[in-house]
Amino acid sequence: MKIKKLSLHNFRNYEDETFVFSDGLNVLVGKNAQGKTNCAEAVFYLCTGASLRIRHDRQLIRHGESCASLRAEAEGRFGAVSLEAEIRENGRELRVNGSKVARSVDFLGNMRSVFFSPGELRIVQDGPDERRRFLNLSVSQTSRTYAAALLRYQRILEQRNNLLKERDLGLVFETLPVWDEQLAAYAAVLIRHRKEYLRRLSPLAAEAHAFLTDGVETLALGFDADYPDGEGEIAEKLKRELSAAYERDVRLGFTTVGPHRDDMKISIGGVDARGFASQGQTRTAALAVKLAELEIFRELSGEPPILILDDVMSELDLPRRKKLLARTSGVQCILTCTHAERVLYGKETNKIRIEGGKIVP
Ligand SMILES: Nc1ncnc2c1ncn2[C@@H]1O[C@H](COP(=O)(O)OP(=O)(O)OP(=O)(O)O)[C@@H](O)[C@H]1O
Ligand SMILES: [Mg+2]
Repeated sequence: MKIKKLSLHNFRNYEDETFVFSDGLNVLVGKNAQGKTNCAEAVFYLCTGASLRIRHDRQLIRHGESCASLRAEAEGRFGAVSLEAEIRENGRELRVNGSKVARSVDFLGNMRSVFFSPGELRIVQDGPDERRRFLNLSVSQTSRTYAAALLRYQRILEQRNNLLKERDLGLVFETLPVWDEQLAAYAAVLIRHRKEYLRRLSPLAAEAHAFLTDGVETLALGFDADYPDGEGEIAEKLKRELSAAYERDVRLGFTTVGPHRDDMKISIGGVDARGFASQGQTRTAALAVKLAELEIFRELSGEPPILILDDVMSELDLPRRKKLLARTSGVQCILTCTHAERVLYGKETNKIRIEGGKIVP
C-alpha cells in the first residue's frame, strides 16, 4: 500500500497543503514545531481513524477554525482508494472512495501503517496500558471483527463499572450476571484475536531483533494471561472469574478482570524487559516489535504497509539506522527529522521541507 497524495485543510498547524509522496523514502525535514509530526499523524489517522497523541478529535482542528479535513489518495494491490475525514467540533464524517462510511470500523484497514516514534519505547518500558494500546491499535488494523468487538466491550465495561458504583447492592448483584454474559462474549473475541496475533508476532519480532543485534540477544513476546483457545471456553472461564470477583469489584468500584487488565510480555534474554532493559535495549526491542508489526501486515494483506518513522533516526546509532533502512527496502517510508543529511546514505529520497505548517521548496 502506497500513499500518493495527502491534502490537509485546517488540520493542526496546516491551513491548506498537499503532500505528494514517492513510493520509496519520503523525508519530512524541518526545525522543531513546524508540522512534521502533524503530517505523520494525519497519515496514521487516515489509516486507523484514530490519533496516537490525543483523546479528542477536536484537538486536530486548526485553532480558530471549526472544521478540519484530511484526504489521502493511496494505491494498493486492489487498486486506488481515497480516504477522507472531516472533523468538526461535534463529530466527524469518514468517507472511502467518496462514500460515507456508517461505522468507523469500516474505515479501518483500507490503508495500513506502522507508526514508530520515541513514544513507542513506552511499549517496552511502561505499564500494561501502553502494551494494550499497542495491541488494540495493531490488531484492529488487521481485523474489523476485533475493532468492532473492542468498541462494544469498552461500552459494556463502562456500564458495568457504573453499576458497580451503585448503592443498591441488591440491584447490583442481580444485574451483574446480565452484563457479564455480554462482556465475556466480546472479551472472548478480543482474547482469541490477541493470542493469535501474538503467536504470529513473537517469532517475527524475535527474528527482527536478532537481525538488529546480530543475534546477540533474544527477544520473546507472549500473552501474559492464561486462557483456553476457543472463544466459548474463554467466555466461560471469564464468566467464572468475573463472578468470583464480585465482592472485590463492588468494593473497588471497577471491573478487575478481563482483557482490559491483561498484559503482553516482552522479555530479552529470558528476562522481563520492563524495569530491566537499558535505553539501547529498549529502543532495539521496540523497533523489533514495530518491524514485526510491519511483517504481519505484509503477510495478512500481501503488501507492505506504510512505515512512518517519526523522529527515530536520531535515537538510533549508525549501524542500526543502516539496518533499519536496509530492512525497509520496497516499503514506502515517511520519515521525519531535523537534519536530512544524516539519514540519507545515498538512498533515493523525496525530501519535503516544512516550515510553519507550509511546504517550502
Ligand atoms: N490544533 C492546532 N492548531 C494549530 N496549531 C497546532 C494545533 N495542534 C498543534 N499545533 C502546532 O503544531 C506545531 C507542532 O507541530 P509538530 O508536532 O508536527 O512539530 P514537529 O515539526 O514534529 O516538531 P518536532 O521536531 O519538535 O517534533 C506546534 O507549533 C503546535 O502548536
Ligand atoms: Mg515531531
